[in-house]
Amino acid sequence: MSFVRNAAIGAVLGLLAVTPAFAQHDMEYPKQTWSFEGPFGTYDKASAQRGFQVYKEVCSSCHSMKLVYYRNLAGIGLSDSQIKSIAATIEVQTIGDDGQPAERAGLPSDHFKPPYPNEKAARAAQNGALPPDQSVIIKAREGGADYIYALLNGYEAPPADMKMGDGMNYNKWFAGHQIAMAAPLTDGRVDYADGTKATVPQMAHDVVTFLAFVANPEMEERKRLGVRVVLFLALMTCLTYAVKRQIWSDVKH
Ligand code: HEC
Repeated sequence: MSFVRNAAIGAVLGLLAVTPAFAQHDMEYPKQTWSFEGPFGTYDKASAQRGFQVYKEVCSSCHSMKLVYYRNLAGIGLSDSQIKSIAATIEVQTIGDDGQPAERAGLPSDHFKPPYPNEKAARAAQNGALPPDQSVIIKAREGGADYIYALLNGYEAPPADMKMGDGMNYNKWFAGHQIAMAAPLTDGRVDYADGTKATVPQMAHDVVTFLAFVANPEMEERKRLGVRVVLFLALMTCLTYAVKRQIWSDVKH
């Protein structure tokens, strides 16, 4: 009996001990407006395409996106020939007809090429820190799109009394406020072909839209199906009600 009691006390104490760790992440991020929110939300394709450009030209030098294929870019409105030429810019290791290692140009069916061959190489290049894979980062962080947007805009000078670790950067929204990633975005960091001004908030908004798309490429289809199912159920409700009235119409009260 006392074993059960001790175990219960232990469990409660254990819970109390881990609670502060959760509380630390419990920040309220400023709420943004996203095209992909709500039951009818869709991806703003122009924004997602600009976001892909930001990922390609900035983030992809450190962050992999291993679950994404080049052909997935069709979902943000890129044409087959655009996708083919984007994929063709990478080189993929393969085995030649002679059985020897060889290289070939990338195809739409290839995964996004990671910047580093493995985790150790990534850490070695990043002062020990690991840039997390971005395939599902939107789902993997509490606060999702709002958090990552806040993080990308959250670099500031550290408070005077804060002792910063070597190579660390102050960020208002990162848990503990010290992040190994230096501010990746600065105004004008990329050149948008559609004339949109590449300010930090604009690029952050665009890249987050793209990150939301890669984490949830089937979202639009799912929502479309959801709307159809609800319409169908509403229709069925009306029909069954009408049928019920018809069947019971002879019965006197
Ligand atoms: C020079 C390399 C580098 C570039 C470029 C870079 N990052 Fe990072 N990023 C890192 C490293 C290193 C970490 C790990 C930071 C840590 O754990 O302290 C990181 C972490 C992150 C995280 C995770 C934060 C968390 O909550 O754990 C996100 C999100 C992120 N980066 C987004 C981006 C986006 C979006 C871009 C492009 C606009 C970008 N990064 C460009 C190196 C980079």
